[in-house]
Amino acid sequence: MLRKINIHGFKGVMDATLELGRLTAIVGPVGSGKTSCLEAVAMLGCAAQGQVDLGMLMLRGVRIGAPARYPTALAVESDGSRPITLEVSSDWASYHVNLTMPAEDDRARWGFAKETFHEDTRHVVDRSGRTAEIRNPSGEVLLSPKLDSDHGIASLIKGLRGDSQSAALVRELEKLMIFSLDTPVQAGTLKDPWPSSPMGPQGGGRTQAIERIRRSGVMARFEKEVSQAIVWLDSVAVEASPQAEPTLRFQDRQMAPGVGKLSAGELSEGALYVTALLTLLFDPATPPLLIVDNVDHALNPKLASYLFGRLQEIVLSDPQRPQLLLTSRHPYVLEKLDLTDERVRLYYASRDRLSGVARLTPVKDACIQEGQPGPDMPRARLWLSGGLAGVPSP
Ligand SMILES: Nc1ncnc2c1ncn2[C@@H]1O[C@H](COP(=O)(O)OP(=O)(O)O)[C@@H](O)[C@H]1O
Ligand SMILES: [Mg+2]
Repeated sequence: MLRKINIHGFKGVMDATLELGRLTAIVGPVGSGKTSCLEAVAMLGCAAQGQVDLGMLMLRGVRIGAPARYPTALAVESDGSRPITLEVSSDWASYHVNLTMPAEDDRARWGFAKETFHEDTRHVVDRSGRTAEIRNPSGEVLLSPKLDSDHGIASLIKGLRGDSQSAALVRELEKLMIFSLDTPVQAGTLKDPWPSSPMGPQGGGRTQAIERIRRSGVMARFEKEVSQAIVWLDSVAVEASPQAEPTLRFQDRQMAPGVGKLSAGELSEGALYVTALLTLLFDPATPPLLIVDNVDHALNPKLASYLFGRLQEIVLSDPQRPQLLLTSRHPYVLEKLDLTDERVRLYYASRDRLSGVARLTPVKDACIQEGQPGPDMPRARLWLSGGLAGVPSP
């Protein structure tokens, strides 16, 4: 399980630390840097795979932008070099990478200026520019490769020390991507523009994901969760025919028998969204850290709050389900968060008005209780009234 991520010099984020729980939520107003933080995490996924370029970033759900727009452009750090530094640690290993911007060419790759791996407290990989050293934990040098400046060392570690803690960390990082579920893709009217595996960042490939859920034996649980959230929905099925691609069919328990099942395009936006989110949660191929941006998207406040509570309950009680990193602009999701449980973490994103720097502030239950104007106030109202960090008025 990933424990801690540090982001330095990425877009508006100058220095932010995320201490991850089983469920980590980032809330904050529009433009406060929530998505930027997730994108930095996805960039870490590219680095672990050994190559950072625009195509790879997009497959992982990062927004399209010229390479020059990824390092921070804030005046507070205008020393010209603008490297992006990312650090991540799991229980036993940590990885640190320093990425430099590619030249003018949009197709170019980011350079790897520095990379290090630690296992426990032992330094096992050291890379600076094109030279590197890979050691075992007792300090013996196993390999001193010469590397291309636009290739990361992580994939080499998998080959050389496949059963090490560093390799386990690399395998987990490689799967990192951001899901921002998109309604037309869910409805089947558009294809996911980035058809990644296991699901596209906008939610493409959901039919195959539901097939995987069925094969893994958790279909009944998945359907129960879907039908508890959407009361009229009885079942979700994959309909296959030799002539056409498999499609999803939804059974409304209140419609007369014989009318037939509904297609995804006939469902409400909220129902589609709930199905997609729960699909990600139950799909055995979902990355071990499931990242969803704007998790409240398309949901009414009550459903958003309910679903947030269910996600929390499921990931806290079932170790088979992924660790969650979610963002939301919706104050209502806060009501369900159990901040007395140390496996649940909440961060408040905000952007400094003068410098433009985006910050992540950990919010503890105690801070909320000390917040104005009183502990009995619903957290949603506390947020909107400015009692939970500062929400700028538009
Ligand atoms: N390279 C950059 N340097 C500094 N700030 C940036 C850079 N790229 C984008 N931004 C700013 O970061 C802000 C935060 O955006 P975003 O992460 O999308 O916030 P949120 O997801 O909370 O709405 C945007 O308002 C944008 O102006
Ligand atoms: Mg955003």
